[in-house]
Amino acid sequence: MMKDLDWNNLGFSYIKTDYRYIAYWKNGEWQKGELVTDNVLHISEGSTALHYGQQCFEGLKAYRCKDGSINLFRPDENAKRMQRSCQRLLMPEVPVDMFVDACKQVVKANEEWVGPYGSGATLYLRPFLIGVGDNVGVSPAPEYIFSIFVCPVGAYFKGGLKPTNFMVSDYDRAAPQGTGAAKVGGNYAASLYPGKKAKALGYADCIYLDPTTHTKIEEVGSANFFGITKDNKFITPISPSILPSITKYSLLYLAKERFGMEAIEGDIYINELDQFAEAGACGTAAVITPIGGILNGDDFHVFYSETEVGPKTRALYEELVGIQFGDKPAPNGWVVKVE
Ligand SMILES: Cc1ncc(COP(=O)(O)O)c(C=O)c1O
Repeated sequence: MMKDLDWNNLGFSYIKTDYRYIAYWKNGEWQKGELVTDNVLHISEGSTALHYGQQCFEGLKAYRCKDGSINLFRPDENAKRMQRSCQRLLMPEVPVDMFVDACKQVVKANEEWVGPYGSGATLYLRPFLIGVGDNVGVSPAPEYIFSIFVCPVGAYFKGGLKPTNFMVSDYDRAAPQGTGAAKVGGNYAASLYPGKKAKALGYADCIYLDPTTHTKIEEVGSANFFGITKDNKFITPISPSILPSITKYSLLYLAKERFGMEAIEGDIYINELDQFAEAGACGTAAVITPIGGILNGDDFHVFYSETEVGPKTRALYEELVGIQFGDKPAPNGWVVKVE
């Protein structure tokens, strides 16, 4: 039985579901994880996650297919990215198999929370790893918790794809040799204030420029940027301080292999936006968000249109979402069934 929710009108907010997965790291190793019903963590006041931001997280979704089965999209890539975050913050890595198995377990246990095919609703998975235990100095924690909770979330665009406007921020989300490429909470804490300023001015979020020269696009809020040039090149920024988006790498592949575009990771200068016929933001939550225009100082640059979605952006969206919901053939290994 599916839960009785207004599946067509869900937003992106916390809903307590029935089960979460939790595993403890103690005495140098991961203990066997389990599913629990309690959504409250009881941790030491000295936990490094609370004071020094020693924590990281992930985000991915489970999708209901036409035949009723449930897909995960590239969970092994989230596992590997979390391992890289762990390396950067001196936390114990969760093995890829343990991560993917935990995702399957928690989705299976909460399958009534995976919305019906066609509603656009998905089940968002939030894996996270935190340093816990008695501690006070700046040093890695003695113990860790790896947990995954899930929440049903709605389609990002209720009425279908809609172009959205963004503004270039004066702030940086990450330092040049900092933690921008890791999915760690500190990056997001630092983005709250600039994000609030952008929203107060009527923009969906900030465009962050590279923190060294402030001339190149890095990120679009909590999504990656892509542009499609007038001569059919699909370009996304390259930089050590960008979060390597799994959606972005999927689109680079699809643009090349299924649409015959030249797919490039390269520099995108904020004063060279004229080369693009279309642009968008991409990520697990954003899926593909067409970018209407970008405000940069006094200049407002419109890409395809502020009201219409470009044909290539739409085609990429349909291909990606088609794969995620099992309607289009997936490249090898991209779709993992929850059974
Ligand atoms: C800062 C940032 N950039 C990009 C992304 C998109 O990454 P992905 O496609 O793996 O969800 C996210 C979301 O995870 C993010 O938080």
